[in-house]
Amino acid sequence: MSKSSRTATSAIIIGRSSVVSQMKRLIETVAPSLGPVLVTGPTGAGKELVAEALHLDSGRNGKFVPVNCAAIPRELMESELFGYEKGAFTGAEKRRIGRFEQSHNGTLFLDEIGDMPLSLQTKLLRVLENHTIQRVGGNDDIPLNLRLVCATHKDLKSMVDSGDFRADLYYRLNVFPISVPPLSERSEDVIDLLDSLIEKRLAQAPGVAPPLFSDNAKKALAAYDWPGNVRELRNVIERAFALFSGNEVSGQHVRENLLSLQMPVGLDPEEQNAIWDATGDEDGTSMQVFEAAFDDAPPRPEAYRAWFNYHDNIDLRLHLRDIEVILIEAALSATEGMVSHAAERLNIGRTTLIEKMKKLMIEKSPEV
Ligand SMILES: Nc1ncnc2c1ncn2[C@@H]1O[C@H](COP(=O)(O)OP(=O)(O)O)[C@@H](O)[C@H]1O
Ligand SMILES: [Mg+2]
Repeated sequence: MSKSSRTATSAIIIGRSSVVSQMKRLIETVAPSLGPVLVTGPTGAGKELVAEALHLDSGRNGKFVPVNCAAIPRELMESELFGYEKGAFTGAEKRRIGRFEQSHNGTLFLDEIGDMPLSLQTKLLRVLENHTIQRVGGNDDIPLNLRLVCATHKDLKSMVDSGDFRADLYYRLNVFPISVPPLSERSEDVIDLLDSLIEKRLAQAPGVAPPLFSDNAKKALAAYDWPGNVRELRNVIERAFALFSGNEVSGQHVRENLLSLQMPVGLDPEEQNAIWDATGDEDGTSMQVFEAAFDDAPPRPEAYRAWFNYHDNIDLRLHLRDIEVILIEAALSATEGMVSHAAERLNIGRTTLIEKMKKLMIEKSPEV
């Protein structure tokens, strides 16, 4: 099947790595069928984008209706999904069409399905069996033709084992599983993503000078392990626009100012805070928590707990390595590349430092 060049999937999902190419082929194959799709993968990896691609390549002419089950209060979720009749409850002054009905002939995207309460799981199962819904406070069975795509960053199978997710629903939803790989498993896509996200950002704000990433900057981005996945890359680009618009970004800038939390010299503290606030993660947690922790050195280990909880899962080895690289480079730069002095400042032996520098490919005088 070589329809890749014409599909929405190939246009909107950036990446040429073999894992992403495979995933795109799977999306294109599954898109036209009616069975439910379960998209899994870590936060920020692109699950919602996969759901959109599935809809666009489905040939269905209804709408793509996204619902984030984690964002809707439990007590409102049923009426949000099923709608309600006038007078169904206090405050129901007129009939309201729910998300199921809105997605008739289209695609309903239930994001964070792992957060759906058990009582609603039972109702969802009934919808899948009968292809009809009843509005809250109504008796009519309303027939629906919808394609269901669900996503979760949780391990639904283990939720089934612990009794938090209905097994029968799990098997019904998991007809076509699609797993979105973390960005660390497709480093060769980082630069394509960088270029494409910068282009998108420029299209939104024409006239703004983009930051210019040097070859070393690109290397540093490709070497990073992206615990927050493509969303984190998007945030880094946002930060680069704020800090380096129209200027060249070096490898050291990437490591010190974009991936970690130092500000380039020359910005006043108020300006710094405004930038971190403006370029933090959508829910405003991770960067602020992390930033607060680094106000006073050394970093409080406790801050890593909040950071870990935010990301759910990380690659411990890569993170410890990144910390090591940053501290060694800081010591080398503070001692102007004098390895023995840097070793002293780090309280390790000179040969140990040299070995580490070799292993981590750190140069004596990191580029400025
Ligand atoms: N392969 C990709 N190509 C282009 N943009 C992507 C890709 N993967 C993710 N993105 C972008 O990254 C951001 C996070 O993706 P999203 O689908 O919301 O992740 P998730 O739902 O898994 O948390 C979005 O802005 C999305 O458009
Ligand atoms: Mg999402």
